[in-house]
Amino acid sequence: MPKVSTTDSGINIEEADRLLGEVMNDPMGGWFKLPFDEKTLDLSHIKAVASRIQASSNYLVCIGIGGSYLGHKALLSAISGSGITKLLFAGNSLSSYELLKIFEEIGHADYSVLVISKSGTTLEPATAFRIFKKHLIAKYGEREARSRIFVTTDAEKGKLFEEASREEYERFVIPDNLGGRFSVLSPVGLLPLAVAGVDIDEIIAGAREEAEPLLPENRTPLTLSNSDALKYAYARHFYRSNGADTEILAVFEERLRDFSEWWKQLFGESEGKNQSGVFPASVVYSTDLHSLGQYLQEGRRNIFETVVKITTPLANIPIPNFVDDPDGLSYLEGKNMDFIQKKATDATITAHRNGGIGVIEIEIPDLSEKTLGSLIYFFELSCAISAKLAGVNPFDQPGVEAYKSEMFRLLGRN
Ligand code: PA5
Repeated sequence: MPKVSTTDSGINIEEADRLLGEVMNDPMGGWFKLPFDEKTLDLSHIKAVASRIQASSNYLVCIGIGGSYLGHKALLSAISGSGITKLLFAGNSLSSYELLKIFEEIGHADYSVLVISKSGTTLEPATAFRIFKKHLIAKYGEREARSRIFVTTDAEKGKLFEEASREEYERFVIPDNLGGRFSVLSPVGLLPLAVAGVDIDEIIAGAREEAEPLLPENRTPLTLSNSDALKYAYARHFYRSNGADTEILAVFEERLRDFSEWWKQLFGESEGKNQSGVFPASVVYSTDLHSLGQYLQEGRRNIFETVVKITTPLANIPIPNFVDDPDGLSYLEGKNMDFIQKKATDATITAHRNGGIGVIEIEIPDLSEKTLGSLIYFFELSCAISAKLAGVNPFDQPGVEAYKSEMFRLLGRN
């Protein structure tokens, strides 16, 4: 569904076909066929549990960090949901202030907790879970507290798995073949989104639409029309090979700010290895044109920019008429805000290209669940291929362990 236009791409079909095979068959390539994996998705179970949470809770505190947090936060911000049960996010930092803010917002209302952690040992979510568990027990008593705790974790190992099994918490599985940052279309992201009233069937339908042409049975022969995600991966490769070491994802809707955060983790953790990789950064325009615009236009030329364009706006306000034209804007009368937004987008792209920045355009029809599901899959696929083109393993993150072991040493863990 996302359409890519770029002046520089240079896709190599034979190589792309081989890389698709490699990422699909990788032991961590579970995301490739995930939209069709009904057993892992188990949508009806997810929806049934989501309804139970909605019936008992004004709030669901989603505890998790990195890939166990950013994806559903991104989709929720972009879509917003029906608001029956409000999602709050904890365990994504070590800030006591942020935790207290959550308790303050919940007040005397009813809530449940969803802990998401593949390893079940990550410090930020584990400490937050302790704090919320204590509070739940104090508020509801041991028995009811237990029924208000939901867990998504590994199928058979980890401290969280052990506790969830022992205490008989309702449990969902993150399969072994799925890395955190590639897990949003699994129960990791789908359960909280369903609780928030987001149409998860549509999200999966969008991902399927994006994935379908690339299934081995459908991609013989592979052609350029099979996937714009490949075009994007090759365009990134082109700019990287020509010296650009920073990519700016530019969105023109505040509601996509969190989506950019998910995108940054996806590409940063997948590609930043062996002392190489493109640094993923993001901006929200036109706001940031008035802060970072100068740098982008005339600063170091080590950047390329990926602009996300939305065909049908979320909303559109007409420009009002004033007979005496007090502000000199009468040339905009009869137009609307979206018209101006689109002209600002085109103007930015042209100006940046003229200023020596490579620009990749990604056009999506709207911000519906279906489109966002396809956009998630689009980026996962392009990221995996892009990392392969850079010669690194897209699916590991050895560098994340370094600070963790140092922190555990300082904290005195045995
Ligand atoms: O993408 C990843 O693998 C990481 O960002 C993890 O999701 C993050 O570190 C949280 O790990 P876990 O789910 O094991 O708590």
